[in-house]
Amino acid sequence: MADQNLMEKIISLCKRRGFVFPGSEIYGGLSASYDYGPLGVELKNNIKKAWWKAMVQKRNDVVGLDSTILTPKIVWEASGHLQSFHDPLVECKVCHHRFRADHLLEAKQAEPGYIKEKPIELNEIPCPDCGGALSEPKNFNLLMKTELGAVDGQKEDAYLRGETCQGIYLDYLSVKDAMRQKLPFGIAQVGKAFRNEITTKNFIFRMREFEQMEMQFFVDPKDAEKHFNYWKEQRWNWYLSLGMTEKNLRFRQHATDERAHYAKDAWDIEYNTPWGGWKEMAGVHNRGDWDLSRHGKYSGIDTTYTDLEGEKYVPYIVETSDGADRATLMFLIDAFAEVETRSGDENAKHEKELVLRLHKDLAPIKVAILPLSKKEPLQKIAKEIQSSIWNELMTQYDETGSIGKRYRRQDEIGTPFCVTVDFDSLEDKKVTVRERDSMKQERVAMADLRKYLLEKF
Ligand code: GAP
Repeated sequence: MADQNLMEKIISLCKRRGFVFPGSEIYGGLSASYDYGPLGVELKNNIKKAWWKAMVQKRNDVVGLDSTILTPKIVWEASGHLQSFHDPLVECKVCHHRFRADHLLEAKQAEPGYIKEKPIELNEIPCPDCGGALSEPKNFNLLMKTELGAVDGQKEDAYLRGETCQGIYLDYLSVKDAMRQKLPFGIAQVGKAFRNEITTKNFIFRMREFEQMEMQFFVDPKDAEKHFNYWKEQRWNWYLSLGMTEKNLRFRQHATDERAHYAKDAWDIEYNTPWGGWKEMAGVHNRGDWDLSRHGKYSGIDTTYTDLEGEKYVPYIVETSDGADRATLMFLIDAFAEVETRSGDENAKHEKELVLRLHKDLAPIKVAILPLSKKEPLQKIAKEIQSSIWNELMTQYDETGSIGKRYRRQDEIGTPFCVTVDFDSLEDKKVTVRERDSMKQERVAMADLRKYLLEKF
């Protein structure tokens, strides 16, 4: 069931508490561009770090890369994107607003009373903004072009990469040789990609500038299916290992006519979103030998691999492709909870409270340090506690407002632990540690606190 209201609450929390702000907002904003605020950048970095750890650092068969965003036109000719990376676009003949034809059809099909046996045609759909007639669909290329150089007439066309994996293919031979890799092995990278999307709705779900976390696994064609199934399972389990609710996830295989031009097989991991049901969060693709064959042909460089038995082939590529922004959004949605009032004053008892039940590895702030008074002895102890752990754990120091309000502020941003320094601390040299989800409180000796907290993470 669509719950636009829930999305509005999440977007409002993101703005209010410094997770995500509309881009260029003081100038009225730039559509579909968003900035990550102080807590958003921590959350997204934690997601990227968790991905890198699982996909590169804890494996012997995957290495990392950071390739350029700017690439010459020939890369996208070879990759097939200049020819095939299109979305169908319709334009209203009256207000000239543009829409994605496939999205308009999808929206109609989702309306109550839609009869599957009598499929609606695109030319029966009026403009959603003014009711005017829509044009025939035209293909619209999604790549973003720019110019390099300072002298008019001598500028060179370049493209902002439309998917990060292309940089991996360009460096495949260099990485293989430098790292003395034998197949099967993978190359991973995290970075920005750019697409001139026509429909940009639903917050950070679909943007024109976004981040991908992609891994390309180079394999013997005979073994491609085995690796494909393995990586599908790995990616699914990664989301579960970071606390995502399994019933909100599903796999969906792309139909033949829906697959990208490079794909022999493609499966999405979809998330059941509050605004529109199942939507793509990540993908696993069998790209066959498309990419290395094409770059071999266009560059004139041989991309054939000779294995230990002397067999020659162009490697197949099994790709895992995750969106850092989509993962951030889905982790936020999945963690968002409204609960009956749990803490704070009697006079606030009927208000709902928000708790972000983020996995501790993803939470932007790991430990909040809360002195009961702003005065010297407690403040000093609290600051000493903070500096004793901030090397390992991201902390936040907060001394303003009632303790109930401060707990609620930390619950809203998903902080797993709060440490309260009170007047008893001066006597018994202990502090109170409060856990976010259970609200369990424990007195811990200050001398043991660092070890106690590090063990929790
Ligand atoms: N290299 C394969 C590839 O790029 P894709 O399905 O086009 O495949 C992969 O994109 C992932 O990148 C998506 O599952 C999504 O998480 C993310 N993504 C794609 N377009 C996006 C956009 N406009 N805004 C945010 N994330 C996007």
